[in-house]
Amino acid sequence: MNKDLLSILDLSATDLEVLISEAVNLKMLRKAGRPHEFLKGKALAMVFEKASTRTRISFETGMFELGGHALFLNPNDLQIGRGEEIRDTARVMSRYVAGIMIRAYHHELIEEFARCSEVPVINGLSDREHPCQIIADLMTIREHFGTLSGLKVAWIGDGNNVCNSLVLASALAGYELTVASPHRFQPRADVVDRARAAGGEVTLIRNPGDAVTDADVVVTDTWVSMGEEGEKAERLKAFSGYSVTGALMRRADPGAIFLHCLPAHRGQEVADEVIEGPQSLVFDEAENRLHAQKALLVKLLGREIREE
Ligand code: CP
Ligand code: NVA
Repeated sequence: MNKDLLSILDLSATDLEVLISEAVNLKMLRKAGRPHEFLKGKALAMVFEKASTRTRISFETGMFELGGHALFLNPNDLQIGRGEEIRDTARVMSRYVAGIMIRAYHHELIEEFARCSEVPVINGLSDREHPCQIIADLMTIREHFGTLSGLKVAWIGDGNNVCNSLVLASALAGYELTVASPHRFQPRADVVDRARAAGGEVTLIRNPGDAVTDADVVVTDTWVSMGEEGEKAERLKAFSGYSVTGALMRRADPGAIFLHCLPAHRGQEVADEVIEGPQSLVFDEAENRLHAQKALLVKLLGREIREE
């Protein structure tokens, strides 16, 4: 496995499979109340340039449950906020902690951290990708269907950071992905090209109804990601017609599930009846962030998971 997780494609297909299996193991150990302090004495630095509920709490709780410690760091409280260079900050942090997780506006900042850091760096969301989210999503899908390969997955709405990681992961997991979005809000062309070159089956269309027809999994996310608040009015207009409603879900396979990374905006990208309905697995998905990231932390920061 690579030293860092900046993109979901830093994982091989085998890495992804192993991570999901180990996440399922850790979930069972936790539910059975069995100790699993595989990172005893290790610390994770967490740098958040943007708000977070799930990522912060799941990483912080995850480190605690693994016997380690997590530090929540706001860049404005670090010397970075006063101009200290990333390359110096990354080298200094590497002398204290076993790993660094960063949520940043610009993906390049995380890349620079990773280049200069001696310890693993994890992307906790950037403008380009959200790999930790997609590991948890794929774990949720696999728990439900028992497999990933051959499933039909439909992404409805903004081709954003979460969508980019889902596009790339299609090359690892073997699902067929259809993205329905307005032309201007398609996933990045370089991301789609990379996914296809690596064997991913990705189709880009406009019509949400066509995308969800017979789908096994329907996924969406906010129309206005963090940092895009200035475009809110334009985006709400562009995405009208892209809500995941009950009528849209009825075009999917009757056994289809609905996923959303959260936070959700009911009445915009998803109708209340869908997110609260029986096909919605959004809270299992949110819980799986904890288990998936614990598996990732053990892999990157510690020794292999052992049963005892
Ligand atoms: N899904 C997700 O990353 O949520 P937060 O922004 O609350 O961390
Ligand atoms: N696309 C959203 C995801 C939030 C978890 C954002 O970047 O704000």
